[in-house]
Amino acid sequence: MQQLTNKVFVAKASELPDKLGKTVQFRGMELAIFKLAGGKVKAIENRCPHKGGVLAEGMVSGEHVFCPMHDWKINISDGKVQAPDHGCVQTYQVEVEDDNIFVMLPDGQ
Ligand code: FES
Repeated sequence: MQQLTNKVFVAKASELPDKLGKTVQFRGMELAIFKLAGGKVKAIENRCPHKGGVLAEGMVSGEHVFCPMHDWKINISDGKVQAPDHGCVQTYQVEVEDDNIFVMLPDGQ
């Protein structure tokens, strides 16, 4: 079955800080948007699976963000928590058109 998506504008690429996250709220959801070194933009759920740390406030290193609360290391591309901890966060597909960043959210969200 084809899953419908909503394409939602979330931010201007030029307004995103380098290697830091930005919190975006949309219909009760909270996303963390990151611009990685090299300019790739990624979107993940803004809630650490450990105890709910705000991931957009974490330090970014390469493809990972370190949760600001207890330093869990989470891959921003696939959402997986790195060993020795485990878990994962939801990731979202991102499209960048000129300076505009859109996130593809499942229909109904
Ligand atoms: S809440 Fe993120 S590491 Fe504890």
